[in-house]
Amino acid sequence: MAAGVSRRASGIMPSPTMWIQDMVSMLRRSGKEYYSLHVGQPGISPPSGVVEVLSRVLRERSGDVSLYAYAPPRGIPELREAIARDLASLGRVRPDPSRGVVVTTGGIEGIFSSIASVTDPGDPVGVVVPAYFHFYSILKLLGNRIVEVSSYPSLDVSEDLWIDLFSRVKAVIVANPDNPTGRVLSRGEARLLADLSCDKRVYLIHDVAYYTLYYEASREWPENYCMDYVITVGTFSKDPGIPGWRVGFVAAAEDVAEAVAHVREATSYNAPIPSQILVLEYLKGGYREKFLPGVIEEYRSRREALAGALEELLPKAKFKKPAAGIFIYVDLSSYLKTNSEEWAKSIAVENGVLTIPGTLFGKGGEKWLRLSFAWEPSERLKEAVEVIASKLKG
Ligand SMILES: Cc1ncc(COP(=O)(O)O)c(C=O)c1O
Repeated sequence: MAAGVSRRASGIMPSPTMWIQDMVSMLRRSGKEYYSLHVGQPGISPPSGVVEVLSRVLRERSGDVSLYAYAPPRGIPELREAIARDLASLGRVRPDPSRGVVVTTGGIEGIFSSIASVTDPGDPVGVVVPAYFHFYSILKLLGNRIVEVSSYPSLDVSEDLWIDLFSRVKAVIVANPDNPTGRVLSRGEARLLADLSCDKRVYLIHDVAYYTLYYEASREWPENYCMDYVITVGTFSKDPGIPGWRVGFVAAAEDVAEAVAHVREATSYNAPIPSQILVLEYLKGGYREKFLPGVIEEYRSRREALAGALEELLPKAKFKKPAAGIFIYVDLSSYLKTNSEEWAKSIAVENGVLTIPGTLFGKGGEKWLRLSFAWEPSERLKEAVEVIASKLKG
């Protein structure tokens, strides 16, 4: 590594996603077929109607220089309005669209700018392990102290564990539905987290990246009981499925949203305009109502296929079928002799099955794998589990 690279940057290198990208590039170059159970993104394109509307807007306004101009760092006003309406329709207390909603360049920027807005370098921030790997890179980059509580091996978080976590930190990040576990907050937990946030004045970054991908559970909002200290961070990467187009949002109390807007001016300034237009049309044109039910049904049947194959072919594997999200997080300690990272690399290279090892989500994941059911159709998910099972048993 070059001598000039900062401690801050080298602290987040090599990143887990780059490791995975390298693996994918290697498999592509080799021309071998492979199974993508590693991806955190949808394998279903957004509805073509909304893409056509965007194309028309771009064509009609192509000679209009304002289309290419800087846009408000808080986001297009109509989009902020649509996001506020959308959140209210999904049961969250309605944020003020003009002062409490900020459009971000994806969910990652929303988390980054929220943490930067409510903590200073060195401030302790809590996560429940296993935790989404970008939480670690954002906290390391911002110089926060990471406080972890472990949910292994049950993946449940008891009331005492939450109380302990909130007693030791300035902010907590919780993904709901969670990545990688698929865990969702119950009504009681949402209430508990809200009470802890308001009583202890601890900010809760409520990361709702998968907020419309629910199969059975009900969607709960700690925001509804503690508006001042709960910050919603969302993204349109998963629904309608435009992760590369980089658009998300933060909804928060006005003072926090104001700070988030300022932080964002120093990062990407404004989210890409074509992406904002697409999301605006998606939300206001009624596309989601027509598109999402089919997507949910498809993911539900893929989840069944993946869970069924695991139960049949790896009966000693332990996992909870997730009620939301796009992942099954599976404990393979009865089968795995090596560390999950080493094993995930070997099955990728030798057998063309891409998975994410539990080690990337913090301590305790040495025998766990995250399997995504968002990309591959059911048949291929079953085939991939056959390959996994024969390698584990062989
Ligand atoms: C839990 C969670 N939060 C945030 C994100 C980031 O979303 P985005 O792609 O919009 O930056 C992801 C993406 O996988 C995620 O799984």
